Amino acid sequence: MSEHQPTHATTPTHPAAGAQSGPDTGPAAGAQSGPDTGPAAGAQSGPDAGPDTGPDTVLRLINGYWSTGILGAAAEHQLFTHLEAGAHDAAQLAQRAQISERGAQTLLDGLVSIGLLTLEQGRYRNTPAASAYLVTGRPADLSQMARLKLTHMGKLTALPEVVRAGGPVSDPTTEVADNPHWGQVVPAIAAQSVPAAAVAADVLGLAGAGAISILDVGGGSGIYSATWLEANPAARATQLDWEPINAIARKLLAERGVGDRFTCIDGDFHTTDFGTGRYDVALYSHIAHQEGPEDNIAVFTRLKDALKPGGALVVCDYVVDDDRSGPAFPLLFASEMLLKSQQGGTWRRADYHAWLTKAGFSDVSFHAAPPATLVIAR
Ligand SMILES: C[S@@+](CC[C@H](N)C(=O)[O-])C[C@H]1O[C@@H](n2cnc3c(N)ncnc32)[C@H](O)[C@@H]1O
Repeated sequence: MSEHQPTHATTPTHPAAGAQSGPDTGPAAGAQSGPDTGPAAGAQSGPDAGPDTGPDTVLRLINGYWSTGILGAAAEHQLFTHLEAGAHDAAQLAQRAQISERGAQTLLDGLVSIGLLTLEQGRYRNTPAASAYLVTGRPADLSQMARLKLTHMGKLTALPEVVRAGGPVSDPTTEVADNPHWGQVVPAIAAQSVPAAAVAADVLGLAGAGAISILDVGGGSGIYSATWLEANPAARATQLDWEPINAIARKLLAERGVGDRFTCIDGDFHTTDFGTGRYDVALYSHIAHQEGPEDNIAVFTRLKDALKPGGALVVCDYVVDDDRSGPAFPLLFASEMLLKSQQGGTWRRADYHAWLTKAGFSDVSFHAAPPATLVIAR
């Protein structure tokens, strides 16, 4: 596929986006960035150490699962929340989290190593990223994702065989109807969608758009509908997803006090009718990566038909640069799709542009919502 320039690219104005503006500067990207740029590499080489020629970086990457383990365990025991509340050493954390002091000190050492805590004059503190993304109750809290990923680690042992085969060799995930996997994933992924939903609302001016109707395909937790219906009291949203997942979303929308403007359709989005000329906004968030090109084109074409004239499709996903040189997080995420899907992957801007054009959209723009990108098409 040939390279192309997107129709236009804009810089988001929402604070959440501004805080994470460049593709490689957000906390999630930073924590998983290139081999020689991550915080742990810096911490191990020191400011005057010069080029990294020793085995440290390679050994740290070989043992990358230590980071997943330490972060998952720290999230499980709410260490970041206790640190935010004023605990500052192993003894205090052990007492507040009801864990051993030896365990607390080990986690503290590991968290300093991976760049999530600072240590000054014997006091441990959350870095700004840990404070924003790992403290319980914060809007973009990723603690649940950290705990969930700890349970996924064992599956990676299949990766060499999966790479040989070109897809899952056991446990296919995304193609299985009503897979209980989603019940674990969607509450954990919701926090990632909070900043993305805010960026999209900003770009589309959703708060002041009046009585619009929204379709969220594979809406999961319902976080986009909750955010957008809160912002616009005249809007209505419909979510299409598997029945048990829609039950999770209905609960969230009811808790947010907007459940009366939220409707669900239970079913498979490949085969469920989207209707014609019905919606002002359609959303396809973190779905394109589980699908192959033909299925994405088919869904985009049906969504174009489901939109009113001038309606907008919002795709949110981990989008790769056209030359495949970055950003770091989408490049790494491709392995997750190789493990879990028959056709999925992390797709390039050029892919989205071509598919959306083929589906009948004429105005395509890209907006940063790190580590994801919003693709907005009309
Ligand atoms: C990764 S989650 C994304 C959730 C949400 N869109 C977000 O961005 O937070 C994928 C969602 O798609 C749903 N899904 C996957 N395949 C589906 C299918 N064939 N039909 C309906 N829903 C599906 C899953 O149940 C899950 O809720």
